[in-house]
Amino acid sequence: MTLLAIETSCDETSVAVARDGRVLSSLVSSQIELHAEYGGVVPELAAREHLRNLMPVAKTALEAAGVSSGQLDAIAATQGPGLPNALLVGFKAAQAMAFALRKPFLGIQHHEAHLYSPWITGDPPTADFDAFEPNVSLIASGGHTMLVHVESELKHRVLGSTVDDAAGECFDKAAKLMGLPYPGGPEIDRLASGGNPRAHDFPRPMLRDVSDDFSFSGLKTSVRYFIRDHPEALNDAGILRDLCASVQAAIVEVLVVKTIRAADRLGVRCVTASGGVTCNRALRGALARACGEKGMILRLAERSLCTDNAAMIAILAGRKLLHHAPETSPDAEILPGWALV
Ligand code: KG4
Ligand code: ZN
Repeated sequence: MTLLAIETSCDETSVAVARDGRVLSSLVSSQIELHAEYGGVVPELAAREHLRNLMPVAKTALEAAGVSSGQLDAIAATQGPGLPNALLVGFKAAQAMAFALRKPFLGIQHHEAHLYSPWITGDPPTADFDAFEPNVSLIASGGHTMLVHVESELKHRVLGSTVDDAAGECFDKAAKLMGLPYPGGPEIDRLASGGNPRAHDFPRPMLRDVSDDFSFSGLKTSVRYFIRDHPEALNDAGILRDLCASVQAAIVEVLVVKTIRAADRLGVRCVTASGGVTCNRALRGALARACGEKGMILRLAERSLCTDNAAMIAILAGRKLLHHAPETSPDAEILPGWALV
């Protein structure tokens, strides 16, 4: 079964070709530079860039995979959630492709695809579902932060999510307050490596809350107050590094403690993580240590599969077809608010 998948839910135009659980090619055309000028993703610009890039990226993905359009058995695309106009570009193009080729079409829930990305490993990236374990999965990105109990393959239940800002949004907003470029997460990660994470005691919101929900807007506000009260911090490289390390430590502690606590409570012995924030080195290290102490298995999505990509869409779509999931109608519409349940 050879599939082509398209992902355009936010600011990455991505196309992947996969065959029988193996990713033959996965291309991501990032728009980070375009949006950096505005300090965040501008939806209209994202959609325009998807329109401009989608066909060249799809053509290159097919060439890189050594697959012709006639050899495709199915087409998939992200149906939601995401920016409406951005989703429209990829979803409608995929439907048109499926219609023209008379092949099945699958609309995929973006977060469901994130759930399975930690099981894609190796070179070429291959789905390792034989190793699948019931797990608690942390999805931490710029738009979402959630904990999901993945009870079995294709069966999952959301345990909690952020009530305000996402973890990535907190990284980005804190970085913006510090005058660092967009996206701020990687900048804070880089600067934090030379700083003292215990220099400043920022709040750990909802750490002791019994629910599996998160909240990060209060942390962002305390960074704002800190900078208001210590404007000199931004002109001192050492203090700035300490500030980055301390903010990062607060975000990481909340994510790790709540993830491990949920796994413990549910008696689950495997933890997985994906989403852009999972690129963060401190988070990867802290999850590894915490899982090690608990004797839990940790599966982190590979860095290239943490951020948005069509490879995870292709792998999930292939898995769904294998399990005889119903096709999506060629007339179906995008679902920008489609929430994982
Ligand atoms: O999953 P993603 O590519 O897109 C969304 O769906 O949002 O995640 C992007 C987010 C941004 O907020 C970015 O700052 C954050 O992931 N991010 C990081 C790191 N790399 C990306 N946050 C912390 N440390 C990083 N190394
Ligand atoms: Zn995502």
